[in-house]
Amino acid sequence: MHFPDKARIVEVGARDGLQNESMPVDTATKLALIRKLSESGLRHIEAASFVSPKWVPQMADHREIMLALSESVAATDTTSVITYSALTPNLKGLEAALECGVREVAVFGAASESFSQRNINCSIAESLARFAPVMERALDAGVRVRGYVSCVMGCPYEGDISPLQVAAVARELRDMGCYEVSLGDTIGTGTPFKAKRLLEAVTRAVPVAHLAAHFHDTYGQALTNLYAVMEEGVAVIDSSVAGLGGCPYAKGASGNVATEDVVYLLEGLGIDSGVDLAQLARTGDWISRQLGRANGSKVGQALMAKY
Ligand code: HMG
Ligand code: MG
Repeated sequence: MHFPDKARIVEVGARDGLQNESMPVDTATKLALIRKLSESGLRHIEAASFVSPKWVPQMADHREIMLALSESVAATDTTSVITYSALTPNLKGLEAALECGVREVAVFGAASESFSQRNINCSIAESLARFAPVMERALDAGVRVRGYVSCVMGCPYEGDISPLQVAAVARELRDMGCYEVSLGDTIGTGTPFKAKRLLEAVTRAVPVAHLAAHFHDTYGQALTNLYAVMEEGVAVIDSSVAGLGGCPYAKGASGNVATEDVVYLLEGLGIDSGVDLAQLARTGDWISRQLGRANGSKVGQALMAKY
């Protein structure tokens, strides 16, 4: 076993978590959520998407969110170490993000043709061609770019996806200049052996130090799959407070693995994440109440029952 000493958590609740909420969530609530998350010790928070408001109405306030966060970064030393990132699928999105002072963006592709069409309205090859100028412009502006690959362990339209196909897309993203490639189990159908086979193929294309795991928990396998890939050296985990979320283009997909559950697992393995679990649990409880939904974190529920 080669567990890492430290893990970096990329908190995606404010983006992946909220993007699928059907009731509009106001900007002030989103900003309060992001502030509370940062106060619990999370140092990488994905906060918005510069996508079409016709496609994802919940992310329509991306400018207000990212402008407010850029201001807060500029105003205080302590928060300046926090990375607030945003999704940018094309140049239009990137230019808008740059205007808001965003320092890190993410492009998002898929290992499934059908999912790529439904999610970003183009083929995999077209998406990669679209990302190239985004990367170039971002890197020119000194902005870091992360890359996502969706459907790494299954697609809602095509079923099984070959790990080799995932590896090919991951390689393209890395070669283009993504500092990290996050592997999205968009519909949470992965299981541990599948996750290990995936890693075996992908690490031939991209070193494990440049990979992240982004597992949705639809089938309740996300924590187990994380354990499996951490055994192979993955040390960056995407998760969502209170397990918020789902993908608007993956029907039935539930939220990301809950950050509280990940932090508890990491603590049990002696892996430092820098997150204050009690404070995070309170934030998960708070946002669940704001949204009027059940807390999707088992650890969050257990801790809140004690407090
Ligand atoms: P399109 O319709 O092909 O683009 O959309 P277009 O260039 O033909 O433009 C059409 C209209 O969209 C135009 O407006 C553009 O201005 C506008 P109109 O003239 O009709 O008024 N437009 C934009 N508006 C704002 N921001 C932009 C932008 N680009 C064009 N950046 C596009 C292509 C990618 C924009 C569209 O398909 C889209 O917005 N899709 C949403 C994708 C999305 O947000 N999906 C969820 C996030 S991905 C995810 O959750 C998976 C992940 O978590 C990993 C995992 O779990 O697997 C990352
Ligand atoms: Mg996702």
